[in-house]
Amino acid sequence: MAKLNIIYFSGTGNTEQIASFIEEGAKAAGAEVEVISVDSADESSVDADFVAFGSPATGSEEVAPEMVDYIEGVKEKLAGKRVGLFGSNDWGEGDFMSMWIQELDNADVSVVGEGCIINLAPDDDEKIEKCKEYGKAIVS
Ligand SMILES: Cc1cc2nc3c(=O)[nH]c(=O)nc-3n(C[C@H](O)[C@H](O)[C@H](O)COP(=O)(O)O)c2cc1C
Repeated sequence: MAKLNIIYFSGTGNTEQIASFIEEGAKAAGAEVEVISVDSADESSVDADFVAFGSPATGSEEVAPEMVDYIEGVKEKLAGKRVGLFGSNDWGEGDFMSMWIQELDNADVSVVGEGCIINLAPDDDEKIEKCKEYGKAIVS
């Protein structure tokens, strides 16, 4: 069975909730899934068939530094892979995500679709469905 590892940082829990709906979607599509907080991730955490990273928009339209540092350390292992990116934001237009996609693209990492941004928490059916669909897309 194909395996997806989801590695995330979440300050107040919203990105963590998105991770769990992505997990649900990927599992429903037949994948085995492991969800790992970036604090407990190591280099081997990206050794899966599929990988997804999650971060809230922070600073001023930035990816959380915890996640930036982690990805920097595993970048070489990601080259040539297709990864999912997701995260929560509030007032922004999602620039953190477009910059994140661009940065990975520059490192020869291709991102699934346009990433998955949820405003604050995935707390209604539409947002939940969007997360699940993205989970499915990552493993398809
Ligand atoms: C210090 C800080 C900076 C933030 N910067 C942005 C931002 O630049 N753009 C935005 O849309 N939301 C911003 N937010 C809102 C968070 O992205 C939003 O609250 C998100 O749901 C937090 O996700 P989390 O619960 O996974 O930490 C910021 C929040 C904090 C606390």
